[in-house]
Amino acid sequence: MEESKKQSLFVAQLKDTIEEKSKRLGRPVRYHITTMGCQMNARDSEKLSGILAEIGCEEIPTEDADILLFNTCTVRENANEKLYGHLGIVKHFKKLNPDMLIGICGCMMQEKDEVLRIQKKYRFVDLVFGTHNIWKFPELLYAVEAENQRVIDTAEERNNFRDHMPARRKTWFKSGVNIMYGCNNFCTYCIVPYVRGREQSREAEDIVREVKALVADGVKEIMLLGQNVNSYRFVDGDRTYDFGDLLEQVALAVPKIRIRFTSPHPKDMDDKAIAVMAKYPNICKHIHLPAQSGNDRILKLMKRNYTREWYLERVAAIRRAMPDCAITSDIFCGFHDESEEDFQDTLSLMREVVYDNAFLFKYSERPGTYAAKYLIDNIPEEEKIRRLNEMIELQTQLSLESNLRDVGKTFEVLIEGFSKRSREQLFGRSQQNKVVVFDKQGYRVGQYVDVRIESATAATLIGKPVRPAEGYTPTAE
Ligand code: 5AD
Ligand code: SF4
Repeated sequence: MEESKKQSLFVAQLKDTIEEKSKRLGRPVRYHITTMGCQMNARDSEKLSGILAEIGCEEIPTEDADILLFNTCTVRENANEKLYGHLGIVKHFKKLNPDMLIGICGCMMQEKDEVLRIQKKYRFVDLVFGTHNIWKFPELLYAVEAENQRVIDTAEERNNFRDHMPARRKTWFKSGVNIMYGCNNFCTYCIVPYVRGREQSREAEDIVREVKALVADGVKEIMLLGQNVNSYRFVDGDRTYDFGDLLEQVALAVPKIRIRFTSPHPKDMDDKAIAVMAKYPNICKHIHLPAQSGNDRILKLMKRNYTREWYLERVAAIRRAMPDCAITSDIFCGFHDESEEDFQDTLSLMREVVYDNAFLFKYSERPGTYAAKYLIDNIPEEEKIRRLNEMIELQTQLSLESNLRDVGKTFEVLIEGFSKRSREQLFGRSQQNKVVVFDKQGYRVGQYVDVRIESATAATLIGKPVRPAEGYTPTAE
């Protein structure tokens, strides 16, 4: 039987099981998903949430649920520690509610040693599955719920049912759309290719169809997702779509809706994709371009396949085509053999680019990677922390510098919610992905608004709408 039909059948059967359970409990069956890691995981969780909602479960904000899932990350060691921290706590929830089902999925569950540890030492965990067989969730959940089995299945089967799983979005106005899965780059420090597998691009037409359906459902911003989005390549008969082609197709399909993407690799950031970005006003003027290091010797040890010079040339090409484009980065310090001079090159790269923002880390050795085998982790922890703090301090200055340059300019903002400080103010994000706080003036969440910036901090732009919302009349206070 075709897999998608098989899984739909399990969904139907699960509905009955959940209904019975709910009758027994005298209330709806409650679920919660704790998501760690990147936007790919966030999107996967929305798919799991979609299935759980479809079978009649109700989402709650706390972990004392009847069905509790952990969608894990393993990119750095502290991500793994986080899971064990949570498990230590929820063990007690399960004692109070023996019917509770605890499941773990995501990248960490593609590591054999971690699965073995869960299997042996965390006997209260009922369900384990991986990143490749997430589409099998209905079937696996059915085995646990209806057949009362403990299920551990992390098989590397791929199936495009995962593209069509019903998703329940965290926010109604924004959605991710997977365009490709996996990574072929094998940067020496990185665990991702081992846990997410090789690159696989989705059919272009199918992506465009999903984007249109989301927009018809009210979505105002689409984020194209992949471990390495700009190595997207799909061959359809005699036509090959690369990332630039796909970006253009999507931008044309929903011209009134903002498009973002994450993350591109600098080595694949070609002129064609840059030109497409510049051409379409609905493609957000923001590129997250992870540099990782500013030193050529370290970049080589990392197997990044570009030099500092190449990277800076790509930044210059982006700025030539789009002077208003924000550039952000991922950078980490303390990789194998990184000397003080090598580290200074990273700081000087940051200064030269003047990143609008950056995610900064210290190196964390991941078992199974090339670096774990051949490039010893020889920078002392205190030194890594010192370097990380220097990077953070520098980036705070650069973010402030970048934000101060925006004072006096006007930006299109997609409104995301109320500001932390006041119900009279809203916040949203500019195309450049900067947080903008502004006076409400009749606007609502999910709308686009043009905001003129009046002041800035390192983290936020503060301004006023260029004009109040239609029909807005200020109340006398
Ligand atoms: N140690 C520290 N940071 C890492 N990253 C990936 N692997 C490691 C590691 N082993 C960072 C990179 C990547 C981001 C998602 O996480 O900067 O771009
Ligand atoms: Fe990891 Fe490198 Fe692939 Fe990014 S490009 S996911 S850092 S291996």
